[in-house]
Amino acid sequence: MTVTIVGSQLGDEGKGGVVDLYGDAADVVVRYQGGDNAGHTVVYDGDTYKLSLVPSGAVRGKVGVLGNGCVVNPETLFEEIDTLRERGLDPDIRVAERAHVILPYHRALDGIEESEKDDLAAGTTKRGIGPTYEDKAGRRGVRIGDLLDPDVLRERLEYVVPQKKALAEEVFDAETGEAFDIDFLFETYREYGTRLAEEDMTVDCGSFLQERIDAGDNVMLEGAQGTSLDIDHGVYPYVTSSNPTAGGATVGTGLGPTVVGDGEVIGIVKAYLSRVGTGPLPTELGGVEGQTPGYDPDAGAGDDEEELATYIRDEGGEYGTVTGRPRRVGWLDMPMLRHATRANGFTGLAINHIDVLAGLDEVKVGHSYEFDGEEIFTMPPTTEQWGRCEATFETFEGWDDVDWSDVADEGYDAIPENARTYLEYISDELEVPIYAVGVGPGREETVVVEDPYA
Ligand code: IMP
Repeated sequence: MTVTIVGSQLGDEGKGGVVDLYGDAADVVVRYQGGDNAGHTVVYDGDTYKLSLVPSGAVRGKVGVLGNGCVVNPETLFEEIDTLRERGLDPDIRVAERAHVILPYHRALDGIEESEKDDLAAGTTKRGIGPTYEDKAGRRGVRIGDLLDPDVLRERLEYVVPQKKALAEEVFDAETGEAFDIDFLFETYREYGTRLAEEDMTVDCGSFLQERIDAGDNVMLEGAQGTSLDIDHGVYPYVTSSNPTAGGATVGTGLGPTVVGDGEVIGIVKAYLSRVGTGPLPTELGGVEGQTPGYDPDAGAGDDEEELATYIRDEGGEYGTVTGRPRRVGWLDMPMLRHATRANGFTGLAINHIDVLAGLDEVKVGHSYEFDGEEIFTMPPTTEQWGRCEATFETFEGWDDVDWSDVADEGYDAIPENARTYLEYISDELEVPIYAVGVGPGREETVVVEDPYA
């Protein structure tokens, strides 16, 4: 069977920990979208692994697959594999031949375009994600399978590279170097192709996975980013360029929708909100310069809201895994979660980081929005409309900081009562049962209520 893990908010919900925990029963862990923009932290045997491309299950000896919906930077791929090997692991990674390749000009153009866009910039990770998906949709991309065939690779590069060079130089007035040089690219990417072939890493993803499922294997489909960063269902244009939502799990792997729908779809919820990048955020606390629209760092300095934001940011380690940028933080946003629940069809929830909020006198939740004089309960379809929404808050009594490892050992009833009230409010509002509660960064610090593979 399959279990699909989806971020219900804006990424960084702690998906890695849940994938790691439930991944124990999985034989194969697959990423279905995104690329090396997806920072995930896995704590295993006391060691911390920070990965941005390789599926987290690989740390634990699972077969890790990058599905056809992914965009793959081979440089990052091999760096991460080599680092894991140096640390004594033996990762088994497969890459879909249909996945698209991030080339150096994609990275260069991501940076160039972001600086041109001003207010429309999404605050991307500058990993070349958007430009690679653009080329995929424009039918001028290079796919992993092309790296194995020198004639096809050269033909593709000869067609596309002059266009990219002209775009960079003539439209954006930027300097171009080897990132736009056909011979350099051909040699470098041909070598990656040779290594992929030598290590027998490439697969026809859908067939590979279906065969494993037919043989009785458990497959985990691991979404990166989150629902509000989805190119269709997120806060466009402040989104990533793929579909983190559960539909992406079928398109991005080659498994049929009925296969994915037959399994479980678990929504990962962070008990508050965090955001890397720009765009509105109705429940935001304080702000982060360069990311919060119209933010003046001196205006609110020292006030209670800024202090609370700093407290949550520091307690929760809310600094980007990939970029190190401070994340914007805010209270939980229920309209965002109702939207995510519908778009993904969650069958279970894993709610993380309730330990981070411990010790606060009160915890607030954006229960609904006031939008043009009306109360609404889900996100409006345009980002401009979302920017006009004002959150209406509900207030919950806070809970004490306790020994969260003990709580994880003892189970759900050991969670402080006020925190359970908060959790049950979320579950009741969304009409989705709680499968797990994260009470700390390690996978041992998770209260497991339901095992989706059982
Ligand atoms: P891109 O995916 O690099 O194109 O970035 C597009 C938007 O998605 C930006 O606002 C990024 O900050 C955000 N983003 C991309 N990956 C992640 C992630 O793994 N966690 C949180 N935000 C992300």
